[in-house]
Amino acid sequence: MLALQIYWVFKNWISLNFQKIIFSFLPLLPAPCSLVNDRLTLLYHGEKAVNCDQFMLNQIKDLATKLAPRLIEIRRHIHSHPELSGQEYQTAAFVAGVLSSSGLYVQEGIGKTGVIGELRVNSNDERLLAIRTDMDALPIQERTGLEYASRAEGVMHACGHDVHTTVGLGTAMVLSQMAEELGGKIRFLFQPAEEIAQGASWMVEDGAMKNVSAILGVHVFPSIPAGSIGVRYGALTAAADDLEILIIGESGHGARPHEAVDAIWIASQVITALQQAISRTQNPLRPVVLTIGQINGGRAPNVIADKVRLLGTVRSLHPETRAQLPNWIENIVASVCHSYGATYQVNYHQGVPSVQNDYALTQLLQSAGEEAWSSDRVQVLPEPSLGAEDFSVYLDYAPGSMFRLGVGYKERILNHPLHHPEFEVDETAIITGVVTMAYAAYKYCQNSQT
Ligand code: NI
Repeated sequence: MLALQIYWVFKNWISLNFQKIIFSFLPLLPAPCSLVNDRLTLLYHGEKAVNCDQFMLNQIKDLATKLAPRLIEIRRHIHSHPELSGQEYQTAAFVAGVLSSSGLYVQEGIGKTGVIGELRVNSNDERLLAIRTDMDALPIQERTGLEYASRAEGVMHACGHDVHTTVGLGTAMVLSQMAEELGGKIRFLFQPAEEIAQGASWMVEDGAMKNVSAILGVHVFPSIPAGSIGVRYGALTAAADDLEILIIGESGHGARPHEAVDAIWIASQVITALQQAISRTQNPLRPVVLTIGQINGGRAPNVIADKVRLLGTVRSLHPETRAQLPNWIENIVASVCHSYGATYQVNYHQGVPSVQNDYALTQLLQSAGEEAWSSDRVQVLPEPSLGAEDFSVYLDYAPGSMFRLGVGYKERILNHPLHHPEFEVDETAIITGVVTMAYAAYKYCQNSQT
């Protein structure tokens, strides 16, 4: 009798909890989402309704959390061994090693010292998503005092490219473990020489963007706290062009200016005229920043200089504004030089264009961040930066979007800016970066409309 009662209680419990039991085993299955329609809502752990995206997000978070100690080790290794633009030999070899051991198809020597890792899966989807990170460091003497500070004299990862490389590797490591569920092809670009704005062009020349249908990128941002990200619709960074102005006057005695053409004084007039003309002749709603950062001329305190060379950078956001800048600058230089009897040369060299984030891909990053974390950890940035980023070079070949990864310490009043010898990152940001990037990649592969 007792045995019968126990049997009935057990049978009822089983039938009442059947769904719970079945779904509690789902996380253990290798490809749960391939078992169901990927938009079908299913019960997860029998407690809350979640869909397949949530399930995959949980998987990504679990994998990233397990990888966290290894990723911090990787970041510290790269941070200790920084290499200047175009010389990323050790970094590239290290990156290639990690990618190979994660099962990716690896190509080295792309864009001189760049690396490509491809996650190849059997899929009918022809689209190919590229994820780009950069690997080079800056000629700065590190002053952080960290135990894993740079071991290379006068070279430092002061722009966070060590974090970018780690986020790229972490994303590759996570997605390689769920390649079948991903259902899409992903190409990881580890680019050299971003700081001299040439690495992206080198990568493109070697075919890095061949067949790519969209590209995502990331850059650290110390004014956003670690754990949060920033996205921006439209312009993220400025076009950055190089400017060289030569002013040629006539030498003479320092006491007899009327017999000479003073190139130094004329150069000062040119600089003043350019700065004033920006405020009076350029549309203030379409920013232009012109900085003369280097000036050379003269031989002695009592000799009037016959030649001055000015070197500068010109930043703008709008392509139409940018297009008229070379003539606009030359006209101003010409009018000043003619007024005072000097001749001139203006060499204007177009550098990288402005990063213009694609709307749909920015939306993808925003929703990936909001679902992975929460909406208050995703900032929609109201303003672009007038810094430059050669990520823009890739955007001539496919739409893309770059997000800002917060790396600031919440508890610190001052987080040093990028390119500062004491620049530091809160390493908890690495997981935020990996999860956001990996989940955005998953969502891209799932959504054929993006
Ligand atoms: Ni940078």
